[in-house]
Amino acid sequence: MRAGVIFRIGVTVSAIAIVETIVCGLAAAPIAGCWWWLTRWAATAPSAFRIAVLGMAAVPSYAAFALCLMAWSALLARLTGARTPAHVSMRIADFDWRLMTWVRYMAAIHVVRVLAGTFFRGTPLWTTYLRLNGARIGRRVYVNTTAISDHNLLDVGDDVVIGADVHLSGHTVERGFVTTAPVRIGSNVTLGLGCAVDIDVEIGDHTQVGALSFVPKHSRLSARTIYVGIPVKPLKQPPVHGARLRGRSSRPH
Ligand SMILES: CC(C)(COP(=O)(O)OP(=O)(O)OC[C@H]1O[C@@H](n2cnc3c(N)ncnc32)[C@H](O)[C@@H]1OP(=O)(O)O)[C@@H](O)C(=O)NCCC(=O)NCCS
Repeated sequence: MRAGVIFRIGVTVSAIAIVETIVCGLAAAPIAGCWWWLTRWAATAPSAFRIAVLGMAAVPSYAAFALCLMAWSALLARLTGARTPAHVSMRIADFDWRLMTWVRYMAAIHVVRVLAGTFFRGTPLWTTYLRLNGARIGRRVYVNTTAISDHNLLDVGDDVVIGADVHLSGHTVERGFVTTAPVRIGSNVTLGLGCAVDIDVEIGDHTQVGALSFVPKHSRLSARTIYVGIPVKPLKQPPVHGARLRGRSSRPH
């Protein structure tokens, strides 16, 4: 392996370790302070009371840590310039600085995903974190997935539902290259649970993507249409809800 590559990998791994240690330390500091105060406050109380108080404080403490982590991680990512470059194709074997910047961003996102995402996904706090970390997200957007990355390449309109375990990112890894491109989702869109959206996709307003569907790269999904399948295709005749339900019950077997 070339010396330049080893140097860049070394610098990147060190940067990730240092930045993430600082981020987690800053997020944990207020909670550590509270625990220090709590243990002193309860020092003279009976052991059973102390154990009960500290036990009850554990989960709220973790939630507070996770909350602080989202804020600090987004701030440090901004300060250190970690982000996904748009419209590039980066050869992994080169390990160039652009790729390394992307790796730092992905590492920061991953730490938050693992330590805070499970706790807060599907809440306005998760949407706020995504915004702070670079995503352009409209109002009343519900994001019930942690499998969302390259936040600075995501553009989401108002009143959007991103269902449970949707995979949404601005990069793909193919044939030894990391290729990036933005993803644009219009307003009033629903991405059904478990579907995957590839790079360079644009989804029109009022469109629904069915559960467990796959939207291939470079797709342009029309407005006011229902798409389903792998890869997605428009539903030929979007059903009228009441009529559809009535039709089912009388369908011949
Ligand atoms: C795609 C979807 C919007 C269609 O709902 P709908 O308008 O009520 O339509 P229907 O359920 O009557 O389905 C119409 C046809 O599409 C098919 N279909 C529905 N969802 C499908 C899917 N995910 N993949 C493949 N086919 C699907 C149905 O089998 C039906 O086919 P048929 O006409 O041959 O019988 C809905 O099925 C769906 O997947 N919604 C996602 C909801 C969701 O996950 N929200 C996020 C929550 S976290």
